[in-house]
Amino acid sequence: MSVVICLGGQWGDEGKGKIVDLLAESAQMVIRSQGGNNAGHTVVVDGRTFKFNLIPAGILHPATVCVIGNGVVLDPKVLLQELEALESQGANLENLVISERAHMIMPYHPVLDRMEERARGDDRLGTTFRGVGPAYSDKVRRIGFRVGDLQKLRFLEKKLNFVLPLKNETLGRLYSAPTFTVEAILAEYTEYASRLDRFIRDPYPLIQGAVARGDRVILEGAQGTMLDLDLGTYPYVTSSYPSAGGALAGAGIGPRHVGRTIGVFKAYTTRVGYGPFPTELEGTLGEYLRERGSEYGTTTGRPRRVGWFDACVARYAVGVNGIDSIALTKLDVLDELEVIRICTGYHSKGEPQDHPMANISHLKHLEPEYEELSGWRRSTREARQLADLPVEARRYLDRVAELAGSRVDWVSVGPGRDQTIEPADW
Ligand code: IMP
Ligand code: MG
Repeated sequence: MSVVICLGGQWGDEGKGKIVDLLAESAQMVIRSQGGNNAGHTVVVDGRTFKFNLIPAGILHPATVCVIGNGVVLDPKVLLQELEALESQGANLENLVISERAHMIMPYHPVLDRMEERARGDDRLGTTFRGVGPAYSDKVRRIGFRVGDLQKLRFLEKKLNFVLPLKNETLGRLYSAPTFTVEAILAEYTEYASRLDRFIRDPYPLIQGAVARGDRVILEGAQGTMLDLDLGTYPYVTSSYPSAGGALAGAGIGPRHVGRTIGVFKAYTTRVGYGPFPTELEGTLGEYLRERGSEYGTTTGRPRRVGWFDACVARYAVGVNGIDSIALTKLDVLDELEVIRICTGYHSKGEPQDHPMANISHLKHLEPEYEELSGWRRSTREARQLADLPVEARRYLDRVAELAGSRVDWVSVGPGRDQTIEPADW
């Protein structure tokens, strides 16, 4: 029961990076289980800021083995830039392992991502343009390239000869975009192969060994439950499974070993990209929270949409993932508000609804119902235990726990490692 799943309960950017970094302190292994370099984490250690797209947040703990799991898609170019940046900041990369089963983003994937978005017109999704969706589509079509292919360049070349004409056909004929040659891609990926070779492995024995020994293994999710391909606000979702099931499949670990499932939630809600967001705030309050919470994307710099905490979303995420611990982040962003609202239910065409539904046109027209709580109007940034929090803030946490149906075990009151209230049983 040594495996801990740490996943996003909302639309991503809940602050999983900071929480995983904290959890990693007592972990022997961190596995990034899904998603690609569409994700972005910011971790602040001793006033230094580290940004990650692909590498597990546990990398800042030198003794922790960090695995990029089979469920991930990665752009080798982006990964190499990230490795260089981390190395120049003094991070130790000895313990990094990249699964040979992880898929690669190929040079045509970001181009196709952009072209598909353009073709959707008003119905565009607001993707990160990193090629993540097209790479996962190719994985399912069984024409994807895996990291392990970098160690079999003849095989990679043979596959390119078959796959590239399909891609060039779409690029050239459908989108009138420039096409690619086998030679150029092969040269580029041969170079990546030589630089990434030392990290590429079959992590199966390593992971099974860790689980068998009872080591603490953290599964680091990317994005969030409402962006899950099956469970989220389809089609306004990412192309992987940020939910608990996806974490296990993306790491290659069975559910029997899971001891705790931590859902990370922001004390309010944000979303980047398009799609339904029932509690979205427009106007000055939304702008205030965006500025105070620095709600701009780590990967794309886009301003995030901002809204109240949605307890229906939280309850849904608790249910579909089996969350038994909530980590609530950015509580301090609410410090100055006089009144704080929580969405407790919805109305759709006069009918009450208690969870986000599958039908996108219904979801778009949900009317949220709110409960109002008084704010605390004091800084929480120095709080290190629950007793340090103003009574109104504790009332807010209690209400979140009650409505979501899970304990709130971690509370983050600022970006620093120390700005965290941790549970006694961790
Ligand atoms: P894609 O994953 O780039 O295909 O984008 C699909 C949707 O997921 C868009 O709304 C993106 O903004 C959103 N998305 C992808 N990755 C993240 C993330 O790490 N945080 C928040 N939103 C994300
Ligand atoms: Mg992020």
